[in-house]
Amino acid sequence: MSCDLPIGVFDSGVGGLTVAKEIMKQLPSEQIIYFGDTARVPYGSKSKETVTMYSRQIIRFLLTKDVKAIVIACNTATAFALDTVKEEFNIPIIGVVKPGAKAAAKTTKNGKIGVIGTQGTIASGIYNDVLSGISENLHVYGKACPLFVPLVEEGWIDDPVTREVAARYINELMEKDIDTLVMGCTHYPLLRQVIRQIVGSEIDLVNPAYETARTLRMELMDRGLTSDSKRTCDHMFFVSDGAEKFRNFANTILPCEIIETKDVNIKTFE
Ligand code: DGL
Repeated sequence: MSCDLPIGVFDSGVGGLTVAKEIMKQLPSEQIIYFGDTARVPYGSKSKETVTMYSRQIIRFLLTKDVKAIVIACNTATAFALDTVKEEFNIPIIGVVKPGAKAAAKTTKNGKIGVIGTQGTIASGIYNDVLSGISENLHVYGKACPLFVPLVEEGWIDDPVTREVAARYINELMEKDIDTLVMGCTHYPLLRQVIRQIVGSEIDLVNPAYETARTLRMELMDRGLTSDSKRTCDHMFFVSDGAEKFRNFANTILPCEIIETKDVNIKTFE
């Protein structure tokens, strides 16, 4: 396999851009092929079977682009599908939950960790499982925040409605004396400022993107797959609906200008 092949990154929508951005920063020589499943977002309220089927279709699509590794830049798809697709496909596949949990375990001092995520991620108990595997002294308090993803996809990042919704969700966790809060959905770092206003300066916010990009770097190094090409922002973006809207939003987040985003009929990748 050639080192110059791209890396596939996918999410239900724009959330995975927070991970793509971190990969661009930490691995500037790598090309990214991004897929946002904007026609079927949100994943957080869907079943394990459905999200696994969606993930399989997206992986099959990314394989047509000759990717050398895949990052599931979505906590819900990681929680529901990572183990299954790792067995089904012969390519390195990395999720965001283990890196996020590892970062949280390193950050906490009092052992009380809050996790906010989609209904699917929180109900799966995956952060609890991974964190209790790291240390039995960690206490995990999860809270599903189902309105966050639609608010982010709508671009209501700095809005009084978003602030009100965030306060209702997060105040409940604040009563648990947590010192660390994991943004356990890749859409949520886009609400970082709103979340910070609610939790104040004493609580550490963990964005799993940083540790995920590090994990990817290690994985590529271990397999001798690290690219050393000079890149000039040749990343490619695909979505299942609303390419123009996605491109405009992505251009407000990413460090380099996306010229084109293409629509893909993802259901055909059975
Ligand atoms: N950004 C995703 C996650 O990390 C999915 C959110 C959704 O589609 O509900 O869970």
